[in-house]
Amino acid sequence: MPFTVPPRFLWGASTSGHQTEGNNVSSDWWGLETAPGTFVTEPSGDAVDSFHRWTEDMDLLAEAGFTDYRFGIEWARIEPAEGLVSRAAVAHYRAMVKGAVERGLRPLVTLHHFTSPRWFSEQGGWMNPKGVERFTRFVDMTEEILQDEVAHVCTINEPNMVAIYTGALAGAGVDSSGGLPAADPALTERLIEAHQAAREVLHRNNPGTKVGWSVAMQAVEPLTTDDQPAARAFAAERETRFVEAAVDDDWFGVQSYTRLRVRASADGPRTVPLPEHAERTLMGWEYYPAALGNAVREASRVLGDVPIIVTENGIATADDDQRIAYTGAALEGLRAAMDDGIRVDGYFHWSLLDNYEWGDYRPTFGLIAVDRSTFERKPRPSLSWLGGLPRAQAVVA
Ligand code: FCB
Repeated sequence: MPFTVPPRFLWGASTSGHQTEGNNVSSDWWGLETAPGTFVTEPSGDAVDSFHRWTEDMDLLAEAGFTDYRFGIEWARIEPAEGLVSRAAVAHYRAMVKGAVERGLRPLVTLHHFTSPRWFSEQGGWMNPKGVERFTRFVDMTEEILQDEVAHVCTINEPNMVAIYTGALAGAGVDSSGGLPAADPALTERLIEAHQAAREVLHRNNPGTKVGWSVAMQAVEPLTTDDQPAARAFAAERETRFVEAAVDDDWFGVQSYTRLRVRASADGPRTVPLPEHAERTLMGWEYYPAALGNAVREASRVLGDVPIIVTENGIATADDDQRIAYTGAALEGLRAAMDDGIRVDGYFHWSLLDNYEWGDYRPTFGLIAVDRSTFERKPRPSLSWLGGLPRAQAVVA
């Protein structure tokens, strides 16, 4: 069934720099991947070599019928040591922006997607009092990359996951007794400050750019109606705070894969473990495509009229038919939310390519498979299926 979209609807796929480029050697994640005794099972290494093969990636996307591409700029490449700007890296990302536009792909650019320069993290990252200033200085450096050709910029990807997992990554450990660990409150406020400061810089430098950020939406459901307050409380600091922070943004990014179910307990809200028989994806997440429509409805409940863009939605599976079934069902939920009057300006599928899933290569999210020794791209049927889905909305006279 075609997916009817309003005029200028963004229809694309997403990637991030670290997960696809390879050899992001000045980043904190590279440091983590090469240190002994972490949870990382394999390093990112060459990733899928998109640093050199981005033209081929964009060609495949555009040829399949997509009109938009979400990709990231790696801060660690632009500023590998504090204050040292790599002109070559600036030129590289500028070429990507131009290359996208030349192919008829509108770029949506992410400025921070989990990775920071190693020097930044080694000096306390966001929690260093200079953290916000350091980030906005980098944002300022992107002016000549973006110019007036990037209509949408995402400042920080999934800040709620950053606030939830940074402690664990730094080896401090986190309390996960309730299921998904709690977000660090100081880090939460710092990230919001960084986002809002970045928005100001972008609006000043690139006045045509629409600025937002993308939050991991858990589609939190109470187990029973009695668990409603527990579910609200669970979501409040892990999600809602980050959504509310976008109230003055130009758009808001919804990222949705599955749901979490929550119940009340004497020790506070707890996530409900998945039953044995539940259908799972390669991430171990519940197969639950309805999460997307629910996440969009939740974002709109909090934000009212701020336009929503789905910046990530997809499934880790070895079975491409299952990817098509999942995505089709997720889009039905999105369609229903739009039919109910919620303004959604775009949909980006995660991911264009199989890539490095933060610790290993096992979960395959790609519309395109990649042979990791030759880097040959092998488009899956889902690529042309999804690329060919949108139909322009009939103009009602
Ligand atoms: C999101 C991340 C993205 C990818 C998907 C599966 O949390 O933003 O990089 O890992 O999940």
